[in-house]
This record gives sequence, structure tokens and C-alpha cells, in this order.
Amino acid sequence: MPRIRPFTFWLARKKISPQAARLLFVCRDLLSAANELRWIREHVNTTPSKIPPNLRLHQLCSKRARGTPLQYLLGTQPFGDLEILCRPGVLIPRPETECYTIELAALIKRNLPKHKPLNVLDICTGTGCIALQLYASLTPHFPTHIQAIDISPVAISLAQRNLSHNIQLGNLISPPPQLTPILTPNTKSTVSFTLLSLFSPALLTTLSSHPPDVIVSNPPYISNKAFSTTTSRSVRNHEPRLALVPEHDDISLELNCQPEDVFYARILHLAKELKGCTRVILFEVADMEQAGRVVRLVERDEVLRGWYDVVEIWRDWPDEEHEDHIVKGEESNVAVAVKGIGEGRVVYLWNSRGGEMEGKR
Ligand SMILES: C[S@@+](CC[C@H](N)C(=O)[O-])C[C@H]1O[C@@H](n2cnc3c(N)ncnc32)[C@H](O)[C@@H]1O
Repeated sequence: MPRIRPFTFWLARKKISPQAARLLFVCRDLLSAANELRWIREHVNTTPSKIPPNLRLHQLCSKRARGTPLQYLLGTQPFGDLEILCRPGVLIPRPETECYTIELAALIKRNLPKHKPLNVLDICTGTGCIALQLYASLTPHFPTHIQAIDISPVAISLAQRNLSHNIQLGNLISPPPQLTPILTPNTKSTVSFTLLSLFSPALLTTLSSHPPDVIVSNPPYISNKAFSTTTSRSVRNHEPRLALVPEHDDISLELNCQPEDVFYARILHLAKELKGCTRVILFEVADMEQAGRVVRLVERDEVLRGWYDVVEIWRDWPDEEHEDHIVKGEESNVAVAVKGIGEGRVVYLWNSRGGEMEGKR
């Protein structure tokens, strides 16, 4: 990373303010420092506090300069149609996640029958951003039942607050109260957040009566090594390790995959246990290399390979102009389309043949 020139600090202090010079330590350039200062100032001026505004501004800028993510200081992050509350202990939603969630909703709207209730399962929901954006996008078109799970009580309670917060803002329509936290067939749309681990045997019992048509997951996927070498200091020091690094080495041995891929292998196993009822599976991944490994988890399994005839890798911005790039699987003849621009970000599996889900992209 190039060093910041003393002249840039001087400019920030003289032309903007001493707080902007402080923000340069994390923002690295004048324009970003000026923008962040404006957002922090707006936050101080619009949210009540007992601390005098100047002192509060100083405190927030100092925390930001020490690496606290902006979203934890401002308390929110825009995500599609929503305003997502953020708090320490729960991963901050990323723009790439927002981008593929919108793309996924568009695909579902284009290709799925509108008269049938749609069951969606969001595994590792965190703030609830993916579940709530899908709920916002799909409920005007389908009776949609969204079930989201996470192992962290802090995340589940924040996701529930995000539902009420966005209903209050008028971004979401209020779902009827759910009596039981399972996917129930209902003509009205529902969304619920449940404290449950992907690895809990209770999950299959919960899902088998109303299996999900769509499974989406942004799970922990960083290896221990990458966490200590390539993850940024701000992420390492401020965001929860539970959200980033899978710690299930025993299960990864059992599922015959790399430790950082264990959530994908377990979800694919779950899809098999659900006997192919799930028509769409979307995984967020770290990069092209991990995307390739996830594709191979599908290819090496005869049953999954038979069900999911459309296998795609999406880059960060899947809807951007791109040349479709087709790669052939290593262990089978499955053709994998690589879409969009940026880093490999998503593995998308689609059973295009089953029932009414047939569609064209
Ligand atoms: C990468 S974050 C994703 C959060 C959110 N979906 C997003 O896209 O911003 C992963 C989430 O997985 C949750 N998690 C970790 N282990 C889990 C498990 N065994 N079962 C369910 N959730 C788990 C963490 O608490 C964290 O909220």
C-alpha cells in the first residue's frame, strides 16, 4: 500500500478540517475522507445524544481513524431497497452481496410460476439483508415464505430488528405473525428468523415437511491462513470471526472437502437429503479458486450432477457487459458459464428441468 504524502495531510487539515486529516489514515485519499466526514457529521446532527456534537464528531472520527468500520459508527448500510441496521458482532453487508441478491430475485421473478407459493431458505443470515431483500423483491409477485437461520443470537436479534425497522420505514410490508418458525404453506407471505446451526440435525426435520425451492447462503468461507494473511486489518479486528472462518475441521474430513468449503459441502448434502426439491442453490464464494472447488463438489456427485443441469459462476457484477466464458468441468462434461466482471463471487446451481421451474436466462 503506498504511503500517504505529508502534503495530503496538510491539504486535508487546511482545506477541509483536522477531522478529515485524521480520517485519511483509513480513507487514504482526500475525496473519500471528505465524504466520510460529511456522513459522520450528518449522523451527529440527525441522531440524538447527550454528548455535545463537536465532542461526538471528534470521538467518531477517532474511532474511524483506528479502523472501526463506518457502518458500525453510523449504524446502517443501504442494501437494495432497504436500510440495514449494523452493529458490532454481526457482519456488515457487502455491495457484491447486494448485487447478486438483486440478480437472484430477478431470475426467480422471470422464471418461476407466480401462482405457487415459493419457499426460500437463507442459511447464515447475519443482519438478514439477503432474506429481507428477497422478501421485498418477491412478495409483490409471489406468496413468498422466507426462512432464515443463523447460529448467532446477536445476528438473529438484529435480523428481527431489521425486519421491524424496514416495515417502519415503509420499505417492507408487514408479514402476518408466524406461530411456528417453519416454512408453512400459506397464501400470505411470511419471513422468519430462527436461531439454528446448519449442522444441527433439527434443520432437516424442520425443513422436510416444506422443503425450500431456493437455498441461498453467504456462509463463513475464509481459511485460517487467509484470515491471518490476506484479510484486511479492519475486518480482522472488528468483524466477527464466526462469520468469516469455518471451524468444523472434523466435518470437513467427513464430507471430504477443504475446511473452508465445509458449509458448501454440508448444504449440498442437505439438498440431497431434501431429495431434489430445491430447484435453485446460490452460494457466495471468496474467489474463482473456491468457485471452482464448489463446482467440483457438485460434479463429483452423480445425483447432484443429474439434478443441477445449469451450473454458473458469477463474478462480482453479474449483470455488467461481459463475454460469456464457458469452462468445462474437470471430472465431468458439465459446462460452467462464467458471467459478469470482477472476482468470482457466486456459484449458481439450477435444476432447470424440474416441473414448472423451467425457464430461460
Ligand atoms: C459471512 S456472514 C453472512 C451474513 C449475511 N448473510 C450477509 O451476507 O451479510 C456468515 C454468517 O454465518 C453465521 N454462522 C456461522 N456458523 C454458522 C452455523 N453453523 N450455522 C448457521 N449460521 C452460522 C454467522 O453467525 C454469520 O452471521
